[in-house]
Amino acid sequence: MPMTAIILAAGEGTRMRSRHPKVLHKLLDRPLVSWVTRAARMAGAERIIVVVGYGADEVRAHLSAEKDVECVEQTERLGTGHAARVAIEAAGVNAGPVVILNGDLPLISPETVRSFAEAVADGSHAAAILTMTPPDPFGYGRVELAGDGTVARIIEQKDCTDEQSAELLECNAGCYAFDGALLAGYIGEIGNDNAQHEYYLPDMVEILRDHGHATTIVHCEDHREALGVNSRIQLAELTAIARDRINEALMAEGVTMMDPATTWVGPDVTVGRDTVLGPMTMLWGKTSVGEECVLGPNTRLTNCTVADNVTLEETVGVDVTIEAGVTCGPRAYLRGGAHVLEGAHVGTHVEIKNSTIGRGSKVPHLSYIGDCTMGAGVNIGGGSITCNYDGVHKNRTTIGDNVFIGSDTMMVAPVSIGDGALVGASSCVTRDVPADALYLERAEQRIVEGYAARRLERLKKGEA
Ligand code: UD1
Ligand code: CA
Repeated sequence: MPMTAIILAAGEGTRMRSRHPKVLHKLLDRPLVSWVTRAARMAGAERIIVVVGYGADEVRAHLSAEKDVECVEQTERLGTGHAARVAIEAAGVNAGPVVILNGDLPLISPETVRSFAEAVADGSHAAAILTMTPPDPFGYGRVELAGDGTVARIIEQKDCTDEQSAELLECNAGCYAFDGALLAGYIGEIGNDNAQHEYYLPDMVEILRDHGHATTIVHCEDHREALGVNSRIQLAELTAIARDRINEALMAEGVTMMDPATTWVGPDVTVGRDTVLGPMTMLWGKTSVGEECVLGPNTRLTNCTVADNVTLEETVGVDVTIEAGVTCGPRAYLRGGAHVLEGAHVGTHVEIKNSTIGRGSKVPHLSYIGDCTMGAGVNIGGGSITCNYDGVHKNRTTIGDNVFIGSDTMMVAPVSIGDGALVGASSCVTRDVPADALYLERAEQRIVEGYAARRLERLKKGEA
């Protein structure tokens, strides 16, 4: 179904009390507006037009990462009807239904968007609006039905009589589908003769009706899906709803969570069966986790690919690939471009950046490995460091297979250590080491018999 989506995101969101536009406040790991563009995209929208206004540059800058999104600026905020009109005039409309979504409804699902778009796409109605019956309807536009079950009109809370406010409990969720040609044809007829002197998009319903075109309602059974964010308190409430929804779906698919209330998973993350997520674990971005893994407590991964049977305890990973059977932590930090191959071990207080850790290799304690290509079966002694930065350039360290690096080794890059080589503890490696060689850099050792005892005697007698 070809479909155009218009997302209204020009408002300031005064009640957020923020320097930043409301739609850029984050729910889980992403701004509100990106939840809505995501729902539109997954519902099958071919074009996504976002109306920006308050903080336009900031919203545009954020959305520039979403290549399928076009931004249109509404320079004066004259109401939702005006915002929709600005979008249509600037971008035009294509064939198929035009879906219009408020930018502050992050929990709207792609299935729901599709359901009310279909009510227009099948030609049975000129428009469809998503409705709900929240426990407290105050503040929402109220839907008045005609005798034939189609919508007569929508009355904003501020324009309702007390009687209408008490009787009309079906609320407008702020999500609409319109026949594109009819919308473009009649949107200019929306006026602003109302309590707020704004151009109300919901007035389209009555205008279409006057021209002989019917609007239907699509009722949203779970009203929480259509809750809006107007304050930070509501943002926290919706954040908890999103967390529970994602966690419940994962548990239903076979993921164990010891404490779902402190387990945070973004909407685009996948987790395999029989994986256990410990408390205070956060999985963000496009992270994918395999089966039979144990993550956490206290593990945070962003855009990571994790294979099966991996254990990550108190580990932070950003943009890394972790292969099967790897163990990390407690307290490992894996940064951009780290690739940990099958069966490797990254231990405690270890940082890995832009490096390959070979199959079965071990970096167990207190090390920094940056810009390094490491072979299989390597052991890196505690406290060893790749000195990859000379103040200007980042230089590479190459370590072959089955190399043994003694503790407290400094590898001054660029440098390479051949297969099977042995580096003595406390060495500073500044030259390439051939395969199977010993490299030792250590001052000659001295033993002075009895010196310590004689010194102690002298000190006790007060001698120098
Ligand atoms: C709107 C609906 C109301 C519905 C409610 C659901 C109207 C007139 N009323 O009310 O029937 O029950 O949503 O949450 O539409 N915006 C612009 N430009 C503007 C004005 C608003 O882009 O000039 C954007 C806002 O950024 C926001 C969205 O439109 O994302 C909705 O605006 P808002 O002022 O929050 O409308 P409500 O009063 O909540
Ligand atoms: Ca609102």
